[in-house]
Amino acid sequence: MHTPTRCVCPGSFDPPTLGHLDVIARAAALFDEVVVAVHANPAKTPHWDAEERVEALQECVAQVLEPGAAARVRVEAVRGGLLVDHVRSVGATAVVKGLRSATDVEHEQPMALVNRDLAGVETVLLVADPRWGHVSSSLVRQVHALGGSVEPYVPAPVLRRLGARPATR
Ligand code: PNS
Repeated sequence: MHTPTRCVCPGSFDPPTLGHLDVIARAAALFDEVVVAVHANPAKTPHWDAEERVEALQECVAQVLEPGAAARVRVEAVRGGLLVDHVRSVGATAVVKGLRSATDVEHEQPMALVNRDLAGVETVLLVADPRWGHVSSSLVRQVHALGGSVEPYVPAPVLRRLGARPATR
């Protein structure tokens, strides 16, 4: 019998971008089940609360992914703790993240090694699609705060929420 493969796509998703959705879709092509984990990054103060990010991501997954793939993705908030503890608690074996640049490599490599040391959890780093290689949540927030259009960078559910809230950087 085939045991379903399961991965976790973690991130702050503050807010979710089309780059995030691309990584989630590609993770769903590699694994049977994908758990999108909305984290409170201890190094960052969130601009959107966790519930808002979870709701937005759920809508984005339903809208952007093929229905067959979307059905295999679930989104949940993680309230503190180690990423590897959440990975184990959901029965996943790997973490999947996107890699946009050499800076991302420097940032991701030590985390991947620590997560493997801590719990034997492997990290799969997907090279970002060139369409989204320059897109980040912080740039989206900045452009939006200064009155620019972020329509090319975020899915419609995020655009709608950005339009309905005061701009923050
Ligand atoms: O989208 P981000 O901000 O790059 O996501 C980073 C995140 C949330 C995945 C990372 O900060 C994380 O893994 N946090 C959980 C805490 C943890 O396990 N820290 C040790 C990892 S080596």
